[in-house]
Amino acid sequence: MNDYPLSEEQVDYYQTNGFVALPDVLDEIELQDLRVATDEILATQHSGEIERSSGNPEYEQIFVQKVNLWRINEAIGRHVLNTRIAEIARRLARVDAVRLWHDHLLTKMPGDGSKQTPWHQDRPYWPMDGLGQLSCWMALDDVDESNGCMWFVPRSQTVGLLEPINLVSPQDIFGLVPEEDGFKATPVSVPLFAGNCTFHNGLTFHHAGPNTTDRPRRAMVTIYTPDGTGFNGNGHVVTDPLGLHEGDKLDGELFPILATK
Ligand code: SIN
Ligand code: NI
Repeated sequence: MNDYPLSEEQVDYYQTNGFVALPDVLDEIELQDLRVATDEILATQHSGEIERSSGNPEYEQIFVQKVNLWRINEAIGRHVLNTRIAEIARRLARVDAVRLWHDHLLTKMPGDGSKQTPWHQDRPYWPMDGLGQLSCWMALDDVDESNGCMWFVPRSQTVGLLEPINLVSPQDIFGLVPEEDGFKATPVSVPLFAGNCTFHNGLTFHHAGPNTTDRPRRAMVTIYTPDGTGFNGNGHVVTDPLGLHEGDKLDGELFPILATK
């Protein structure tokens, strides 16, 4: 398949605002494959999948989160390792090469009681040094403000790395922005059709509302990190079993290179 027709304007938009929405990244067949795979995963959550969950039951009040499904599901593997999408990430981040950090499936299904996802940056939760990480949030269902589409604060990535927000009892992230930054936060919602996605920088403030509809909200998120990113010694569900030492590079089979210049 041809490269995604990413324009320099879209790259500039991402670089300036810390996020960008891209249409038609998946075709109908890819989308359908992923939906079937996701539903299989959700239907088997009582069995061996449990160790793939976030490990934090309280998070599951916000969204149902399943991590690194590319390791256990072929169709999700095809999506997460899709070099066409990784190349978009590499170009948006303006780096020579990107590796997979991890995937996660974030669902807010009708009636599952999931709440809003509080405003946060992603990067503070990740046990790594350096910046430039970004997430591809792929809509598997049409999403808007009523069923938990993403919201972003344009340019908020310029604030830099803050302390992690407690997602379960969140403090106000906007209050953590130093006043001298003169930063005016104006959130924007990003409704998407299924098969469209957003990419956001790990430093960009973002949030999603609850799903108040009877429609599903399934999102498959793939997170990329620039090649050369090191482990900083902090705990994380993905790295905890690996016996890494501070300063070790995130490389090897769990963090494959997915796109290079
Ligand atoms: C969500 O999908 O509810 C939040 C996604 C994110 O935090 O990246
Ligand atoms: Ni996030």
